[in-house]
Amino acid sequence: MIVLFFADIVGRPGRDLLAAKLPYLVKQYGADAVVANGENATSGVGINPRHADELLRLGVDVITTGNHVFKHREIYPYLDEHPRIIRPFNLLQSTPGRGLAVIDTPAGRLGVVNLLGDLFLAPARSPFEAVGDALEQLHGVRSILVDFHAEATSEKVAMGWLLDGQVSAVIGTHTHIRTGDARVLPGGTAYMTDAGMCGPRDSVLGVKKELVLERFLTQLPMRFEVASDDVWLEGAVIEIGDDGRSLRIEPFAVGAT
Ligand SMILES: [Fe+2]
Ligand SMILES: [Fe+2]
Repeated sequence: MIVLFFADIVGRPGRDLLAAKLPYLVKQYGADAVVANGENATSGVGINPRHADELLRLGVDVITTGNHVFKHREIYPYLDEHPRIIRPFNLLQSTPGRGLAVIDTPAGRLGVVNLLGDLFLAPARSPFEAVGDALEQLHGVRSILVDFHAEATSEKVAMGWLLDGQVSAVIGTHTHIRTGDARVLPGGTAYMTDAGMCGPRDSVLGVKKELVLERFLTQLPMRFEVASDDVWLEGAVIEIGDDGRSLRIEPFAVGAT
């Protein structure tokens, strides 16, 4: 099974480049499934139903999210009604939506789990404890991808080791900065600390750099806007064997031209 994973899609620039390139990338890599983190899809913060529909229509099979998932209230019922968009598993059970998804692909079933890291993001439960419950719910599903949306590299590396041999891939998101450590761990789990961002690089993490600089220089609040130039799609392609162990993880960065 070939899974294409796209890191945090930022605003219209990220959505538009994904629309332009996804058919070609699916063909190039022979992808059986597409997973994309959509937590910044709407104006850089959160995701609304219109943009979730847009991503699903483009061919994204599962949308994962993160700390901004509840920014837009309109998404609450949508999260309950649409099994292909998930929120972090380790939030309060009373929050809208669910923390995992199972889809059928041409190469078999794929489970996707979304987890939120502890540092700065304050989930209801430790991701290290909660992930056990998620895997129990996925009993019988051999291919499993975990999107670990977290700030700290230590938490992400540790989660990779915890889940090595139990899931097919642990891919980090949230920092918007792609790390150079993609590899398959000894137990067969593809791992990457952060897959990066699908959005404008002429920015600070997707936001207009002038605004972020002004905030740092003046220490006054500033309304952030999504930048527009030098847009890239970043992520990784993961090849999973029939036994659920990964054979290969290959990061990619695809520009507009
Ligand atoms: Fe993000
Ligand atoms: Fe985030």
